[in-house]
This record gives sequence, C-alpha cells and structure tokens, in this order.
Amino acid sequence: MTDETPLVELRGIRKSFGAVRSLRGVDLTLGRGEVLGLVGDNGAGKSTLMKVLAGAVQHDEGEILVSGRSVRFASPAGARREGIGIVYQDLALCDTLDVASNLFLGREPRKGPFLDRAAMHAQAARILDDLHVRVSSTRQEIGHLSGGQRQTVAIARAVSTRPDVLILDEPTAALAVAEVESVLRLIGDVAARGVGVILITHRLQDLFRVCDRITVMYEGCSVDDAPISDLDIERLVAMITRSDTDKEVRS
Ligand SMILES: Nc1ncnc2c1ncn2[C@@H]1O[C@H](COP(=O)(O)OP(=O)(O)O)[C@@H](O)[C@H]1O
Ligand SMILES: [Mg+2]
Repeated sequence: MTDETPLVELRGIRKSFGAVRSLRGVDLTLGRGEVLGLVGDNGAGKSTLMKVLAGAVQHDEGEILVSGRSVRFASPAGARREGIGIVYQDLALCDTLDVASNLFLGREPRKGPFLDRAAMHAQAARILDDLHVRVSSTRQEIGHLSGGQRQTVAIARAVSTRPDVLILDEPTAALAVAEVESVLRLIGDVAARGVGVILITHRLQDLFRVCDRITVMYEGCSVDDAPISDLDIERLVAMITRSDTDKEVRS
C-alpha cells in the first residue's frame, strides 16, 4: 500500500431493486482527509450508493476496496468494522432518550453488568466538547433539541466510533443558517484528523466551503469527477443537469 492508495475505491457498482436499476455502474474514490461532495438530482442513486458502502444494501456487481483491499459487507456492522461510519438522511436518533444515551446507543459504558451513567455522561461531554458541539447538558432529551443540535449529535455519534470514512447524507437539509455553519465546521475538523468524508447535499454553495473534490451521479451512473477548484456553481449545475452535453447520445 502506498500513500496514493485511496482510502475507498468503488468500481463498477451496480444495484437493482426488482426492475429498478438504481446503480448502473458507479466509480468513486476517496482519499484520507479528503472531503468529497457527492451530487446528483433526486433519484440519481446517491443514497443507495452510500448504503452499499455502509453495508446496509448489498450490491449486485462491482467491487469495494478499502485501503486497497477488496471487501464485501454483509451488514452495517461489517462496514463499521472496516471503519465506515454513516449518518443517514433520516437520522435514527431516539427522541425520548437523552443526549449521552443517544451518543452511546448500543455501546454504553458499563461497570460490571450495570450501565455506568456517570462515565457515560462524562465521556459524552468530552466527545461533544472535542467536536465543539454545544448542548446545555448531556442529560437533555434529544426530542427537545433543535434540528441543528440533533444533527450534530448524530454526527458526533458517528465520529465517536472513530471511523476512517464518514458519510453524511444531506446533513444540513433542515437546518437554520447558524446550524449549517456548525455542521460545516465539524466536517472540516473531522477531515483535518485524516478522516475521509463523503458529503451529499443539495446546498451547492456549501460544497465550495468544505469539499476538495466533487463526484457527479446521473441516473445511476457516475458521470463526472473534478477538483472543486476547477468548478463554479454554474459549471456544477451544468454537470448535475447534464445540460452542456448531448443527452441523446447517452440513451
Ligand atoms: N429499497 C428500494 N426499493 C426500490 N427502489 C429503490 C430502493 N431504494 C432506492 N430505490 C430507487 O433507486 C433510485 C435511486 O434512489 P436514491 O439512491 O435514493 O437516490 P438519491 O439519493 O440520489 O436521491 C430511485 O429511483 C429510488 O426510487
Ligand atoms: Mg438521497
């Protein structure tokens, strides 16, 4: 393995759900400490592709390489063991539990057979502090937090498992302006630690704030890949809508 070996490489990924061909040959690479923007219109296959990488959906064809090794995930747990963390579009937080319990859901610190609540809250406070996530108390119920706070707790939960790869599917879709800023800052912090981040968002202006590179999907295919420094909003929109290419040729 050399320094140039990508952290993640997806080659020719295909996935159908019955007659629906959701992924029709997708290639993607991600480097260490890189923030990759994954864009494409609704239904392009972004979420499905990320579910494949996170072990939640099994692909029909193609190859997943992690640090140059070919892997195949039978479950999300398998992907987690390979260092893949994901925050899904719909968050899967537990509204009636407090912040700390949500952070440790399923892996709570224990003292013998018992839940070690003191340790859990102390560790939760440390994790959130580390990530500059501000909540008034780790004992606050998640259901009482704002959208942005919930989102940052969900991201903190994924980050606290120390993933090598962090996938964020529309993390800012429902957030207020200041909350978006805190999520973007979090992405920068995480990438600065060497984590590879894949960011899916419709907020194209955000991509220019945090991304190094953009991969574009269109109707289940990866169709473009470019450093963000080569792009502006207009060019990016043209890539997403395929408005500057002859679509007739494709079909
Ligand atoms: N479990 C599923 N069963 C059937 N079709 C699905 C399933 N998941 C996704 N699809 C279809 O795959 C296509 C891509 O969806 P998706 O990956 O959610 O796109 P995006 O995230 O880019 O909006 C869509 O046509 C969607 O309806
Ligand atoms: Mg989606």
